[in-house]
Amino acid sequence: MRIDKYLADQGMGTRNEIKKALKEGLVRVNGEIITKAGTHVSEDDTVMWDGMEISYQKYVYFMLNKPAGYISATSGTVPIVMDLITEPYKDMFPCGRLDKDTEGLLLITNDGPLAHDLLSPKKHVEKEYYVETEKSIRQEDLDLFAKGIMIDNNETCKPAKGTLINETSCYLVITEGKFHEIKRMFEATGNKVTYLKRLRMKNLILDEALDLGEYRPLTEEEILDLKGQAG
Ligand code: URA
Repeated sequence: MRIDKYLADQGMGTRNEIKKALKEGLVRVNGEIITKAGTHVSEDDTVMWDGMEISYQKYVYFMLNKPAGYISATSGTVPIVMDLITEPYKDMFPCGRLDKDTEGLLLITNDGPLAHDLLSPKKHVEKEYYVETEKSIRQEDLDLFAKGIMIDNNETCKPAKGTLINETSCYLVITEGKFHEIKRMFEATGNKVTYLKRLRMKNLILDEALDLGEYRPLTEEEILDLKGQAG
């Protein structure tokens, strides 16, 4: 791969900025200063940028504890979840959507194939939420969710497993991602969601050590687990 692409992929700047840095002698490959943008490097080479080693990662994965008030999008003028990510990697996006007022686990990655897999309606990936409601949650509401509740008189949700915590809060596991799905499920029972937080996606559990708005890279084990390759 060309050194300018290698560095651009790792978020070191635009092609022009990288060209300039190369001309200024800021880039070394295996200890040697490289000035030509077309120089080829491999993932085994040691690439240094102004004295800092830049290792090549094809894909990156961050677990974000999304705060309310942010839109799950990659562009736009309103606060977007990507505003919270200070890492320079290119082409990252939120894997799936949480409503603006929903908090909790959001995977941010540039791994398109994995995101496609996790979001595919055919894969029925579990998403677990903590839900608070205005009125009491009845066992019969959870029974309706378990059977697959009809919302807006025209759409039936896939069966969802609810576990009561107390009168007005529960855990709920859904396996699809209809627009405002959980809010609409509770509306169909005459209730209203007042707080929603995602706790888990497949086997990736929100790290409670992350404050709202904080993120951290996934561990190797978490990545393998998500990809279903854990040993
Ligand atoms: N269901 C909702 O209603 N909102 C979310 O953000 C996620 C699931």
